[in-house]
Amino acid sequence: MSALGKPLPHESARLHVSGGARYVEGLASQTGRLAYAWPLLSPHAHARVTAIDLSAAASAPGVLCCLQAADVPGENDAGPVRHDEPLFPSEVQFFGQPVVWIVAESAEQARLGAELVRVTYEPLPAVLSIEQAISADSFHLPADRLRRGDPEGALSIAPHRLEGELFVGGQEHFYLETQAALALPEDGEALLIHSSTQHPTETQEIVARVLGVPKHQVSVQCTRMGGAFGGKETQANVWAAVAALASRKLGRPVLVRLTRYLDMVTTGKRHPFLGRFQVGFEPDGKLRALKLELFSDGGFSLDLSSPVLYRAMFHADNCYLLENAEIVGRICKTHTVSHTAFRGFGGPQGMIMIEEIMDLVARHLALAPHEVRERNFYRPGDTSHYGQEIKDADRIARIWGELRGSSSFDARSRDIAAFNTSSPHVKRGLAITPVKFGISFTTAFFNQAGALVLIFKDGSVQVNHGGTEMGQGLHTKIAQIAAHALGVPLDAVRVMPTRTDKVPNTSATAASSGSDLNGAAVKAACETLQARLAEVAASQLGVSPAAVVFHGGHVFGAERSGLRLSFGELVESAYLARVPLFATGYYRTPNIHFDRDSGTGKPFHYFAYGAGVSEVEIDGFTGQYRLLRADLLHDVGNSLSPLVDRGQVEGGFIQGVGWLTTEQLVWGADGALLTHGASTYKLPTLADCPAVFNVQLLNRAEEPGVVYGSKAVGEPPFMLAFSVREALRAAIASFGRGGPVKLASPATPEAVFWAIEAQRGDGRHPAGRPPA
Ligand code: MTE
Ligand code: HPA
Ligand code: MOS
Repeated sequence: MSALGKPLPHESARLHVSGGARYVEGLASQTGRLAYAWPLLSPHAHARVTAIDLSAAASAPGVLCCLQAADVPGENDAGPVRHDEPLFPSEVQFFGQPVVWIVAESAEQARLGAELVRVTYEPLPAVLSIEQAISADSFHLPADRLRRGDPEGALSIAPHRLEGELFVGGQEHFYLETQAALALPEDGEALLIHSSTQHPTETQEIVARVLGVPKHQVSVQCTRMGGAFGGKETQANVWAAVAALASRKLGRPVLVRLTRYLDMVTTGKRHPFLGRFQVGFEPDGKLRALKLELFSDGGFSLDLSSPVLYRAMFHADNCYLLENAEIVGRICKTHTVSHTAFRGFGGPQGMIMIEEIMDLVARHLALAPHEVRERNFYRPGDTSHYGQEIKDADRIARIWGELRGSSSFDARSRDIAAFNTSSPHVKRGLAITPVKFGISFTTAFFNQAGALVLIFKDGSVQVNHGGTEMGQGLHTKIAQIAAHALGVPLDAVRVMPTRTDKVPNTSATAASSGSDLNGAAVKAACETLQARLAEVAASQLGVSPAAVVFHGGHVFGAERSGLRLSFGELVESAYLARVPLFATGYYRTPNIHFDRDSGTGKPFHYFAYGAGVSEVEIDGFTGQYRLLRADLLHDVGNSLSPLVDRGQVEGGFIQGVGWLTTEQLVWGADGALLTHGASTYKLPTLADCPAVFNVQLLNRAEEPGVVYGSKAVGEPPFMLAFSVREALRAAIASFGRGGPVKLASPATPEAVFWAIEAQRGDGRHPAGRPPA
């Protein structure tokens, strides 16, 4: 009867597919006197702005005003962490950076106006890659370090040693709804902002800072986002600030809505990383020592690069024990967009390094990669390289074993080997890889959430909480939690648009922790209300409050009792008895801590686990490949909402496949992004989903200490896609005579082609790159 744990569709599924779901732009179309803002973009990666001539733009048809630094009443900066992102820069720091904005009666008039702006630049030298940043000593912060044991000593005595490096490309978020904000004037200096933001509180803060007003003058609402994937954790703020400035100046509603081109060239992406490693190991493949340097491309400003780098460093172990390890991280400062949060938040970039190493070690020793992985798994009692006990380490082996069985891994390995022997030009590859992902914001204070639950006299309920809906199904889960906690049917509950004037000082909906944190806060609020209502029911039913049972919209005198009231009747009498029918709830994650100086602590409340088996087929003439089959087994604890969780596992995996295979960002020598649309930036489509796609959620997986025994699911399945990269590598290897396989990331068909050429052993071309 309870909605909890039921495979329900997403609460907005019908609205999504019928066009009824409201996004910022749709809300804007309902307001009168709407004005539109458009930016003029820098044509240089790095240059001083020496003069701006707005005269022609200002008198263009429909233009209402121009915005530049002098129009900012508060601080001319939107940097979320460091104040290093001028809204109107005197020195541009990446190709495509907005310099000034034009506001007009229509978006087209604003765009035409922006074309008439004349800016004079004095170009300056630009740093455009990680390598260039390293040689120019261009970094955002000093190095960070995690260290355990004696990696140098262990390396020197290890029976085998290898070193190498891997560059992994970034990734465009490509949320369907591009960045958008609508500013609506309210009384006096107050404003309401509708923003497509994962972090309404931060958007409120930045808008208030730019306007120079206290935060109570700014309310931010996020009804829903048409996707975010981390790209709206910090990078939604700029557009809200610009809309707010224009609205303030004109006293009219103002919409900023980026086109796909504007969005792709102005916003940050997943951080590209360069890893350099030395590894020492035993003849059986067991790691003895690891030294890993991670360089991320932070772009022009700091943004979230520091916690992203930390998460990469924390995840350099994936599922493997690193007894002697040193991981050093550096954030490169380059003249490009500011790279930012993206599903996995550095975790994927850290984990790909150790997966690369596992495969390298296995092929060096001519061992099966899955055996080397297995031998290095954490065992119960082990601690991570940052000192956190891996309490449920046996879950890795359990998932691995179950998936090997359910995917027929061993039998298919043999079949594929036989296929490859008889097929000279088309080869198949099969691989299994594991995932362990730490759940909690590594910035400890973000691990808190609030809720405000309102019950109306008819027994219907509005739930407000600090989390935002971006398609991940958070509101669906919250509605299920509230309905279950109050003992009412699902349709008695409405989850409200997220607003800073309902729940203040919220955290970003990120780190996969939306339902853990907000779900627990909502549950607490519902329990407070239920305790009050139980008192009222007890007196009416003549039982003790402890005996009262809430279930299915009715309130019973005891379990299975015939004595009952409807929830609506009870609420009505509670109102008459002057019992408050609204309550707040609050939750903070217990017992998490981390000491940066010693590099030890317990940064994560728990870990989410999973494993993937993928099978690919490659055409050796072209490097074209297909994903034939994927089997995923993922641990979501006791699922709050199995259909939603399944969607997250499938979607996360396919997004990971895109990152690792076809999604290649290409920048020109001048720093301009060349892949700025879906025509040149190759996203996975439905056609790229495997024909056989078996997705299972792990049974008997209750997680103690998390809301209703569930686990976070938003990001961890992304990294199940490593199985596709390793399957490609296995197939490439079968074109050659054995030994390590160098493979670029992303492993585009072109990169796969060159990797095959290198395997064929003529040694003419370095792997993954066409001949110069
Ligand atoms: N799923 C959809 N459909 N759209 C999204 O934008 N973002 C991902 C993930 N799943 C995203 C998504 C990211 S980056 C995170 S951190 C989580 O959802 C955030 O939501 P949660 O904490 O409620 O899981
Ligand atoms: N994940 C996502 N976003 C964050 C984190 C994190 O660990 N820390 C700060 N912002
Ligand atoms: Mo997700 S990258 O933590 O928004």
